[in-house]
Formats: sequence, C-alpha cells, structure tokens
Amino acid sequence: MPLRYSPLPSPRELDEDAASSLLEENAALDRKAWYPTLRWSLMTTTALVIYSLGICWVTKFIVLGSYRHQLPAPASSFPHPDEKEYVITETGQDGDSWVRHLVYGKPSPEVDEAWYHLIKPFNTRVPAERYESTMNNRTSARVADGSDNPDYYVTLTVYHELHCLMRLRWFLDPEYYANKTWEEQAEDKFAMGHYRHCLWSLLESVLCNGDTSMRTFHWDPNKPAPKPDSPAERKCVNWEWLYNWTMERSFLLQDGLLSHPTFGRLDANLKPVRIPN
Ligand SMILES: *[C@@H]1O[C@H](CO)[C@@H](O)[C@H](O)[C@H]1NC(C)=O
Ligand SMILES: *[C@@H]1O[C@H](CO)[C@@H](O)[C@H](O)[C@H]1NC(C)=O
Ligand SMILES: *[C@@H]1O[C@H](CO)[C@@H](O)[C@H](O)[C@H]1NC(C)=O
Repeated sequence: MPLRYSPLPSPRELDEDAASSLLEENAALDRKAWYPTLRWSLMTTTALVIYSLGICWVTKFIVLGSYRHQLPAPASSFPHPDEKEYVITETGQDGDSWVRHLVYGKPSPEVDEAWYHLIKPFNTRVPAERYESTMNNRTSARVADGSDNPDYYVTLTVYHELHCLMRLRWFLDPEYYANKTWEEQAEDKFAMGHYRHCLWSLLESVLCNGDTSMRTFHWDPNKPAPKPDSPAERKCVNWEWLYNWTMERSFLLQDGLLSHPTFGRLDANLKPVRIPN
C-alpha cells in the first residue's frame, strides 16, 4: 500500500522506536483534538437519551390508553372468552324457527321440554386446578364426586340468564305455570320478587355487553312514525359449540353430586336425602 494513502504509517515501514514515538505523539495530539468533540458527543448522547425516554413515556401513555379499549376479559370465565368459538351472523330474521318455538310456542309440555333442554347444563363442574388458578380467593361449593380434589360447583351467567328468560316467559302465562290469575300472581310477593330479580339480572347483562350492532328503520307509507327493523349483523358465540362444551362439564341435580356439610346429600329437589334407618 503506498504510504500517502495510509492514515498512519505502518510501524513495519519505520524503525521500531520512531514508530512508537510517532504513535504516542499522534495519540496525545488526537486526545487534545477530540476533547471538544467528545464533550459535544456526550452532551448530544445525553440529550438523545432524555429525548428517547420522553418519547417512550408518551408512547407508553398512549398505548396504555388504547389498551383500556381492549381490556382483556378476566380469567374467571369458563371457558375464557378467548377460548370460545364465535360466528358473524344476522339475527332478528324470521327464519330461526327454534327460537320462535321457544318464545311463541303455546304453553305445553313440549315447549317446556325445549326450555329445560336449553338450560340443562345449568350446573357446571370446574376442575379444581382451573378454578383455583382463576378465581383468586373466592370460594364455591364443591361437588361430592368422591375424589381427593373435587370439582367446584358453579353456574355460568348465560345459563342464569336463560333461566330468567324462562321464568319471565312463565310470567306471561300465570294460569298455566302457577295456576293463578294475573291478579293472584301480582299478589304473590315471592314470585314477583323473583321476576324482578330476573329483570335486574338481564338489565345488568345488557348494559354489561353493550351490543352496538346497528338496527335500521324504514318508512311506512301510511304512518308518519319510522318503523324499526329487527335484523342486525352481530358477532355471536357459536351457541351449539358453547352448549356442547358446557354439556360435557355439567351435571343434573338427580346425579346426587351435591352434599351439604350438615344436611348431607341432596336429592333432585335439593332436599336432604333421607337415610333409611
Ligand atoms: C389469597 O389469600 C392469601 C392468604 O389468605 C393471601 O396471601 C393472598 O394475597 C390472597 N390473594 C388474593 C388475590 O386475594
Ligand atoms: C288450581 O287452583 C284452583 C283454585 O285455587 C284449585 O281448586 C285447583 O285444585 C288448582 N289446580 C291445580 C292443578 O293445582
Ligand atoms: C355438538 O354436539 C352434537 C352432538 O354430539 C354434534 O352433532 C355437533 O356437531 C356438535 N356441534 C359442535 C358445533 O360442536
């Protein structure tokens, strides 16, 4: 390599002493020359670090703010919402004959059977490990399945809501479901208390879920008021999937899996099973 292109002469091209003295001198010269640049670099770096921290802080603030919109569901759901299967579907159409039957079907053993089938997975068992890892310190009754670490007994909110809808449907037919007239039903404080509890529960769920799917209106040529339409496009849980999932983890009262600490084992009517003498 020609010498003039070399930033520093290669020691090999000079004698040993000359080379080392040249290098030392150069280093000393360099140090002095670099002092202001070094100070400037340090200041710039410090300023950059402070600026970056500031940007990080602002970004964190913005990101956390947007996370609040996508708040993860609490783990204390079974199954967790992230584990559920969903579908995008259009509700409110005349087509769903099963739902129509449940709502408009004349009171009969057949319609009652359809409702009981719907709420069959009401009593749910949650494996102890799953329950304890997600429910913090909240306790629940446990099933008497004879195991060392029995499942916990819960009911899922959707089945409580279905139970409430079934009861409100009963309210519409007091003669059939309570052998009472409307007036007698209104006098029945216990029954009315239950209906109100159900209304409250359903109202809470509606407010909690805040469904914002849009519903349209149309004009009736003969009436001034706009008429609301029922169809709405929605994200719904795949009901058949959820039903199957819960059925696999549920039990019936007649399975005799409930045992009160002092009253002992309970029958299908939640009455203590009489132990024959
Ligand atoms: C649960 O209870 C334990 C012991 O009483 C306590 O140390 C712990 O902080 C509690 N955990 C929660 C999430 O409340
Ligand atoms: C219905 O109520 C009437 C009058 O209270 C009573 O006579 C009748 O036995 C009741 N029927 C049933 C099925 O409980
Ligand atoms: C639900 O279970 C039924 C009966 O076992 C089965 O035919 C159906 O394919 C299942 N549906 C889903 C969505 O898992």
